[in-house]
Amino acid sequence: AEYGMILVETQGKVGIIRLNRPQALNALCDQLMSEVGEALRAFDKDPGIAAIILTGSEKAFAAGADIKEMKDRTFPDVIFDDFIGDRWETVLEIRKPVIAAVAGFALGGGCELAMMCDMILAADNAKFGQPEINLGIIPGAGGSQRLTRAIGKSKAMEMILTARMMDAAEAERANLVCRVVPLAELIPEAVKIGEKIASLSGPSIAIAKDAVNTAYETTLTEGVKAERRMFLGLFATADQKEGMAAFAEKRKPAFTNR
Ligand code: HXC
Repeated sequence: AEYGMILVETQGKVGIIRLNRPQALNALCDQLMSEVGEALRAFDKDPGIAAIILTGSEKAFAAGADIKEMKDRTFPDVIFDDFIGDRWETVLEIRKPVIAAVAGFALGGGCELAMMCDMILAADNAKFGQPEINLGIIPGAGGSQRLTRAIGKSKAMEMILTARMMDAAEAERANLVCRVVPLAELIPEAVKIGEKIASLSGPSIAIAKDAVNTAYETTLTEGVKAERRMFLGLFATADQKEGMAAFAEKRKPAFTNR
C-alpha cells in the first residue's frame, strides 16, 4: 500500500510502523490514524508477521491528536463522525502483539495510543503526558481510564489535572512502561522482543495476549476461569505437544503455529 504519513518495513517476522509526520511532531490527524489502522490490519493478516512495532521519531512518538484539525469541529460534527471510534481503536482489534516503542513526546492521544498497545518500551528521552486540560478538554481516547489503571489514581489525577509530564525513569517506576533503554537501542530492543515472540507458538501468543487483556475487563474469579479455558484449549494444539516433547527430549522446539 502507498502511505503518506507512515513508513512501513519488516525485519524478519517483525512488522514496523513508523509515524512519519515530523513537521507536526506526529500529531495524529485523521489521515495518519487511518493509515496506522490500515497498516496494523495488513500486518495482522500477514502470515509472515508475528509481532508489530509502532514507533515515531526520536523527538516524538506523537504529540497528540491534531489540535489544528480538531479545533473547529462542532458537537454535531463529532457525534456523527466519531473520529475516535472509527479510526483510533483499530489497535485494540489486532491479535498479534503490538509493541509501542516510544521516544520523545507521547502526549495526549499519543500517550493514549501507546497505552492501547500491548506494552510500551521507552527510550530514555521519552516523555509521557495527558495535557488536554491545557486545551479545555480531557483525554478522549481512553487516557483517563488506562492511565489510572496503569499508574494508579494519585499520579493519574496529578497528570490529567495539571498536565504534568512524566519522564522515562518515572514512567518505569510507575509501571507505565515495561522497560527503559537508551535511545539508540530502542528499535533494536523492540525488534528483539518481536523476534522472541516470533520464535514461539503463534496460537499460544495470541491466547496469552487475550488472557492478559481479560485481566482488565473482568473480575478475578471470571478472569481466572477464562484463563483456565484458554490454558486447557491450548492442549488441542500440535505446538503444545511439540513444546513439551522438546523439553522432555532436551532439544529446541520447532513450532508450526498449528
Ligand atoms: C497539531 C501540533 C501538535 C498537535 C505539535 N504540533 N503538537 N500540531 N496538533 N497536537 C505542531 C506545532 O504546532 C508546530 O507546528 C510543530 O508541531 C512543532 O511543535 P512546537 O510546538 O514548535 O515544538 P516544541 O516547541 O518542541 O514543543 C513540543 C510540544 C508542543 C511540547 C510537544 O508541540 C505541544 O505542547 N504540543 C501539543 C501537545 C498537546 O496538547 N497534546 C494533546 C492534544 S489533544 P508549526 O506549524 O508551528 O511549526 C489530544 C486529545 C486526544 O491529544 C483525544 C483523542 C482523540
